[in-house]
Amino acid sequence: MKISIVIGGTGTIGSAIVKLLKANGHQVRSITRSGEHQMDMENPESIRQFFSEIGTLDTIICTAGNASFGPLSKLTDEQINLGLTSKLLGQVNLCRFGLKALKPNGTINLTGGILAHHPWPETSNIAMANAGLEGFAKALALELPEGQRIMVIHPPLVKETAKVMGMDESQSPSAIEVAHTYLKGLKGNKNGDILFV
Ligand SMILES: NC(=O)c1ccc[n+]([C@@H]2O[C@H](COP(=O)([O-])OP(=O)(O)OC[C@H]3O[C@@H](n4cnc5c(N)ncnc54)[C@H](OP(=O)(O)O)[C@@H]3O)[C@@H](O)[C@H]2O)c1
Repeated sequence: MKISIVIGGTGTIGSAIVKLLKANGHQVRSITRSGEHQMDMENPESIRQFFSEIGTLDTIICTAGNASFGPLSKLTDEQINLGLTSKLLGQVNLCRFGLKALKPNGTINLTGGILAHHPWPETSNIAMANAGLEGFAKALALELPEGQRIMVIHPPLVKETAKVMGMDESQSPSAIEVAHTYLKGLKGNKNGDILFV
């Protein structure tokens, strides 16, 4: 049985992935700041501590990480830093400490977003973090030992989120459809690849 964790596993996309992994026979733990299994991916010490206690894992999936909406000219220092310290550096640190717990042939799936390739106005902070993850994963793939693999998934706006935001949801995939892309990544042999839904 595969042992997997989903950081952000109670969120819109994360909870769909947890459900799908369980249906595919994985033993899955959902990791958040506030649930039964806790970690703050914005705090390197919290990540280090978490992975020193968790044991070995087949799969590490991250569907957590924030960045700021807004025009660059209006973003505060704190908002600019959010994309860097949360979505980008948070996931870099997950790899940094998580790789020590990852089994041979284990897989890490990070989450970016389609705005890396098709940005909207006022998304520069998000697009920066998403695009940064691509370069990071492509390079890290070259130094992973023993068949370990890393991928970045770029979800589009999902139906559930569009609905909450009062936006047109007719062109969006559901979170469970997006979850299938993560699962496909686990089953294939891609490494350093960027996956689109
Ligand atoms: N939803 C979309 O349409 C969409 C589209 C493209 C990309 N994305 C990206 O996909 C990711 C997930 O989006 P989502 O909409 O599913 O998010 P969400 O519904 O807001 O859920 C976020 C999840 O992450 C956890 N979390 C937040 N901050 C954390 C931290 N510092 N450390 C550990 N866990 C943390 C939350 O739990 P706690 O608050 O309890 O910690 C929750 O489980 C994000 O990076 C987002 O940018 C989403």
